[in-house]
Amino acid sequence: MNRPDSPSDIDIKSSDEIAALRASCRLAADVLVMIEPHVRPGISTGEIDRLCHEYIVAHGAYPSPLGYRGFPKATCTSINEVVCHGIPSFERVLKDGDIINVDITTLLGGFHGDTSKTFCVGQPSAAARALVDLTRDCLDQGVAAVRPGGRIGDIGAAIQAVAESHGCSVVRDFVGHGIGREFHAPPEVPHFGRAGRGVRLRPGMTFTIEPMINAGDWRIEILDDNWTAITRDRSLSAQFEHTVLVTQGGAEVLTIPSGR
Ligand code: MF3
Ligand code: CO
Ligand code: CO
Repeated sequence: MNRPDSPSDIDIKSSDEIAALRASCRLAADVLVMIEPHVRPGISTGEIDRLCHEYIVAHGAYPSPLGYRGFPKATCTSINEVVCHGIPSFERVLKDGDIINVDITTLLGGFHGDTSKTFCVGQPSAAARALVDLTRDCLDQGVAAVRPGGRIGDIGAAIQAVAESHGCSVVRDFVGHGIGREFHAPPEVPHFGRAGRGVRLRPGMTFTIEPMINAGDWRIEILDDNWTAITRDRSLSAQFEHTVLVTQGGAEVLTIPSGR
């Protein structure tokens, strides 16, 4: 039975759990800060992954994607028309003009922290940079739509309005997710939909918001590696992700780097 008003499967974190989750989220965000200067023409996605993996382990954590449902690497690296779940490879070298999402999930102290960012490699086209900026804006507007007593649908409605008003589209096949002791937990957080619908938001809920925005059509396909998702029309796709906590006053972004 679907009871969106009283979802017993969505946990409300205690303050101790929130402190532990915050530490994992901070580390994940720190990984993105660490890797940013390395994301340059000439580096391979395998090397990006290796640097992130090493940093995560050096900070006492485990890279959650590694071995998750058989995923072979520590991070996801998704270039240009790749929507998400790109597999890092020492054969794939970044070129000037690429856009690349690096998606980091850390398991620290029993809690997963999940965040991603799309970087510009050298000087992408104006259209590519506009897509990256729009997608960051979509995430920010999604976070801004979170309030206790609101609904999960408020988030997707806000994101979809921003994306579609700029002629872009929202990926349907992948959604944000509850997070904590589990990597992917209820609720699902669609990045499209209708305000006022879905699970009611309560203080202490933690979930990701991670819009994937395509310059063209929203449809995707999965490559033969059974992971890499690409746009069906081969248009560019960008993504940003935060882990957020519903608070008494709205939302707190947990995936903020140390010292910020
Ligand atoms: N970090 C991704 C997310 O945002 C999930 C990656 S799962 C993997 O949910 F297996 F592909 F790594
Ligand atoms: Co996620
Ligand atoms: Co992620």
